Amino acid sequence: MLSKYKVIIDEIILNYFRSLPENTLSESMAYSMNLGGKRLRPSLVLLSSRIFGGEEKEVYHMALAMEMIHTYSLIHDDLPSMDDDDLRRGKPTNHKVFGEANAILAGDALLNEAFTVLLANYAVKSREGAEAALFISRAAGREGMIVGQVYDLENEKKKATLQELVECHNRKTGELIAASLTAPAILLGAEKDEVEKMYAFGIQLGLAFQIQDDILDRTSTKEVLGKSIGKDGESGKSTYVELFGIERSREMAKEATDSCLEILSSINRDTRELAELTAMLLNRTY
Ligand code: IPE
Ligand code: IPE
Ligand code: MG
Ligand code: MG
Ligand code: MG
Repeated sequence: MLSKYKVIIDEIILNYFRSLPENTLSESMAYSMNLGGKRLRPSLVLLSSRIFGGEEKEVYHMALAMEMIHTYSLIHDDLPSMDDDDLRRGKPTNHKVFGEANAILAGDALLNEAFTVLLANYAVKSREGAEAALFISRAAGREGMIVGQVYDLENEKKKATLQELVECHNRKTGELIAASLTAPAILLGAEKDEVEKMYAFGIQLGLAFQIQDDILDRTSTKEVLGKSIGKDGESGKSTYVELFGIERSREMAKEATDSCLEILSSINRDTRELAELTAMLLNRTY
């Protein structure tokens, strides 16, 4: 279902890199951006803009920015000082190819580029555009994805409670997923309660997605997942699987998905495609 969006997004990304000078920095940024990946977050941007009646092209730059932020988070997540992973999207991780220093810098550059793109294409153009960019900035930052990554590292050293794990997953994964759905709604002038519902939906979708990620770390194969298997267990990280086992984790992912669908059904717009994607993601294998 994501494949029709993936084609559009891959093209947007290729176009962006065509305009860059040839140097090590561009090469390492492009390497991780073009490895593939499901393109979930930019697909959600396009889907959300459809729900709120936007012209699809209007959010292309927002989709690009979200995938840049996500990719930067993965490059840094894989570093030896973080999850220490050698494989990402079926290929050697950025630091394995370009070295640790260049990987840090490629991540930094992708993050800054994302905001250059957001400021230039939205924030300077309209009040709604500025609000949308601000929302994404908060989601990516100190109170969003980054603090989630800090909680995640802390959870390698202690056994987290359910509440701590939910908070960690909501921040490290839920925030960027929620922002991908909420920022287009803000840009397109959705009602306040619609914006709030999209955010609440996105956080639940992020939770279901990260529980699934924890399960796949244990149950998938390197070939299918494109990542090393069993890394969470090796590092002694508190994950859903670690705390509750596979079966209960599956049930909890289903519960989060059910609350997603409940929130969606209270939004008075055509959300059928998003509902279908949400249900499909519960059974994803990579
Ligand atoms: C992986 O995200 C990191 C998490 C937040 C779980 P994805 O599973 O969306 O990774 P790609 O983009 O498809 O590689
Ligand atoms: C990643 O969580 C979350 C972010 C990158 C923000 P994980 O560490 O579980 O993601 P994978 O399994 O390496 O893709
Ligand atoms: Mg991690
Ligand atoms: Mg990781
Ligand atoms: Mg994981």
